[in-house]
Amino acid sequence: MAFKHETPLLDQLESGPWPSFVSDLKRQATHRKENPDNVEYQIDTDCVEDILGVVELSYKEKEVHWKHGGIVGVFGYGGGVIGRYCDQPEQFPGVAHFHTLRVNQPNGKYYTTDYLRRICDLWDFRGSGVMNMHGSTGDIIFLGTRTEQLEEIFYEMTHKMDQDLGGSGSNLRTPSCCLGESRCEWACYNTQELCYQLTHEYQDELHRPAFPYKFKFKFDGCPNGCVAAIARADMSFLGTWRDNIRIDQEAVKAYVGGELPPNGGAHSGRDWGPFDIQKEVIDRCPTQCMWMEGDQLKINDKECNRCMHCINVMPRALRPGEDKGLSILVGAKAPILDGAQMSSMLVPFMKVEEPYDDIKEVIENIWDWWMEEGKNRERLGELIKRQGFQKLLDMTGLKALAQHVQEPRHNPYIFWREEEVPGGFSQDITDFRKRHQR
Ligand code: HEM
Ligand code: HEM
Ligand code: SF4
Ligand code: SF4
Repeated sequence: MAFKHETPLLDQLESGPWPSFVSDLKRQATHRKENPDNVEYQIDTDCVEDILGVVELSYKEKEVHWKHGGIVGVFGYGGGVIGRYCDQPEQFPGVAHFHTLRVNQPNGKYYTTDYLRRICDLWDFRGSGVMNMHGSTGDIIFLGTRTEQLEEIFYEMTHKMDQDLGGSGSNLRTPSCCLGESRCEWACYNTQELCYQLTHEYQDELHRPAFPYKFKFKFDGCPNGCVAAIARADMSFLGTWRDNIRIDQEAVKAYVGGELPPNGGAHSGRDWGPFDIQKEVIDRCPTQCMWMEGDQLKINDKECNRCMHCINVMPRALRPGEDKGLSILVGAKAPILDGAQMSSMLVPFMKVEEPYDDIKEVIENIWDWWMEEGKNRERLGELIKRQGFQKLLDMTGLKALAQHVQEPRHNPYIFWREEEVPGGFSQDITDFRKRHQR
């Protein structure tokens, strides 16, 4: 099909081996032109052609043609809509406005086909029809509509579909979790429930930006980290256990004897040779806390750091313990002021019990500190680096623990305070010499 704008540079991107966003956009542009369902499009029919045109122009000139955001949103909310205006509206009228909406995804990302049809229909009717399932924020991302459509979409979603917008700007971003107990035997707590409850508890923080910058909660049911909480969230909630890994020695034998496929068969299809428990499990244990005694697998659980490797390889033989809960880690971010950073351990273990008061207390103490001390656009992880982890411990009322130290000398941020030292820091030298010869 011939489109409004010539796009030789974009066309070239379609020649690579991977699926191309250019092909996707062309397909959507064609669909809007043909309009097989006779939709009364509420924004320009050729907005997707104009997006292709403006991207092509940017590729040619090596300059972007979008103005800086601008405040745009829906009544009562300060987030959820990200404003986009093109600085070439005459050439590309279809994208003169091209705002993004964040739509709060259901926990575990379960949908009915009926719901999916309804959001697609709504977005075809009132937007560009281009969407992303899902952004790394977690949300469903609606890409491109005009300002006049925002309230209409918001009304339709909240009143008819029980569907809220997500977070954007300096607020609590849409909390996001792995599917947890709903399908996964490794879940150490109900990630969906905790994510849901905290989303409701912190509606105000989610919709009314009052923070120095963005703040993310992500909930992983176990250290496998299917939503990568440790890398992507200012507060990462990771399921864990504090007793011993459960071992079924009969199943260990079955893995060793080749009756059970390792990794649940995930690596089948190639000949890796017979399963070797020494090479594939014991030698790969990061804390070297496993060994065989005859045909029995032994684990020194005191040393195990719950990395999940052995459990992933032999799920029928090994399972997380029974005394389950979560760890709270803080401060992950992608580069903004400083480089990328992973979360640091704050609470090694906490039981997950409704109404989650222990968890809320940690959250709210952290927010009080960060909102008071955080600079504009400073993430929690940067504040922790600037003021120190010990300050974080003071502000949360948590005690320094061995688990806060990654390894000796690596992060020595725990110091004695003068009032903790008998006699303080200034000692009397004559008194000292009474006990210590020169
Ligand atoms: C068809 C065109 C576009 C596509 C396919 C697209 C795709 C996306 C997606 C998928 C996200 C969510 C990312 C995530 O959370 O993982 C996103 C966010 C974002 N997009 Fe786009 N986008 C488009 C247009 C634009 C335009 C026109 C601009 C700028 C003028 C823009 C700037 C941004 C920014 C700054 C964010 C991050 C917002 C935040 O979290 O602070 N995008 N985009
Ligand atoms: C309970 C007793 C002791 C404690 C709590 C202790 C504590 C420490 C600490 C915290 C450090 C600094 C580690 C670092 O740089 O990260 C250190 C270093 C050192 N300690 Fe001790 N220490 C003890 C006993 C001793 C004794 C008895 C000796 C010698 C007879 C000793 C010799 C050293 C030396 C030489 C270093 C420097 C090592 C290096 O920089 O490579 N320590 N100690
Ligand atoms: S993070 Fe753990 S509990 Fe959650 S889905 Fe992944 S493996 Fe399962
Ligand atoms: S979970 Fe990880 S650290 Fe613990 S025993 Fe298994 S491989 Fe070792």
